[in-house]
Amino acid sequence: MDYNFLKYEKQGETGIITIDSPATLNALNSTILDELCDAVSHLDSTLRCLIITGGGSKAFVAGADISEMAGLDEKAGAAFGAKGAKVFRTIERLPIPVIAAVNGYALGGGCELAMACDIRICSSNARFGQPEVGLGIIPGFSGTYRLPKLVGMGMAKQLIYSGQAIKADEALRIGLVNAVYEPEELMHKALELAASICRNAPLAVRHAKDCMDAEFDLEADEAIAYETVRFGRCFATADQKAGMQAFLTKGKAVFEGK
Ligand code: COA
Repeated sequence: MDYNFLKYEKQGETGIITIDSPATLNALNSTILDELCDAVSHLDSTLRCLIITGGGSKAFVAGADISEMAGLDEKAGAAFGAKGAKVFRTIERLPIPVIAAVNGYALGGGCELAMACDIRICSSNARFGQPEVGLGIIPGFSGTYRLPKLVGMGMAKQLIYSGQAIKADEALRIGLVNAVYEPEELMHKALELAASICRNAPLAVRHAKDCMDAEFDLEADEAIAYETVRFGRCFATADQKAGMQAFLTKGKAVFEGK
């Protein structure tokens, strides 16, 4: 994959996408959104986990590109929002787990990008926030939808109405991130977490992701029935046989994703 503002690399079965436009703190313009959309739509099918991070040491993503948004009218504003929302939904719906390694500012679209990922970990210098109302707009890449789901309605409303950024330890306290690390440790920890995911049966991990995402909005009985069907499907895989056989014979399972 060859892009102007993204880097892609693969380490083992983990893909790493770096949004790399540090001069503007990785702010998301249309080109970057198009590149990100292309990258996540053409991922290697052998990947078992994806990490998204930001280039440079200051920012994950400092938001949607304000210089691009400044001149938009209503129709163009809605189209820009739809573009970002579509990319983030594509990320959310990837069949494999996605880890946001938040290495600095995650403001506006940066916070929204992190929220579209399955798991967020961050560096101690990270700052999270939805400052849009201070610019005369609202979060437009699905932040009003995802933030209340992650941190609860009351905290989401406080963050979005005030526009105030929070530090890494506060993001940890409210459950917006799962862990905080020193900046130089962050990628190592992200890769370690990815490796722990990659060691497990890949089809089971995919079913687990699909279940948690699909069931979140379902009624209890429907959600439980959804899980039961996928639980059953796991027993049709060679990985289930390998995993349980390895346990019973005190061996180590080799999962092939079949
Ligand atoms: N859109 C466009 N450009 C952005 C940007 C954004 N969201 N965020 C940062 N930049 C640009 C700055 O304009 C600056 O460009 P310049 O060097 O050509 O002037 C460059 O990135 C560096 O940013 P700067 O503001 O000088 O860094 P800082 O360390 O003083 O402040 C922030 C960092 C993140 C606090 C500040 O850049 C900021 O508030 N950015 C906007 C955050 C935001 O409102 N995001 C939501 C948008 S909807």
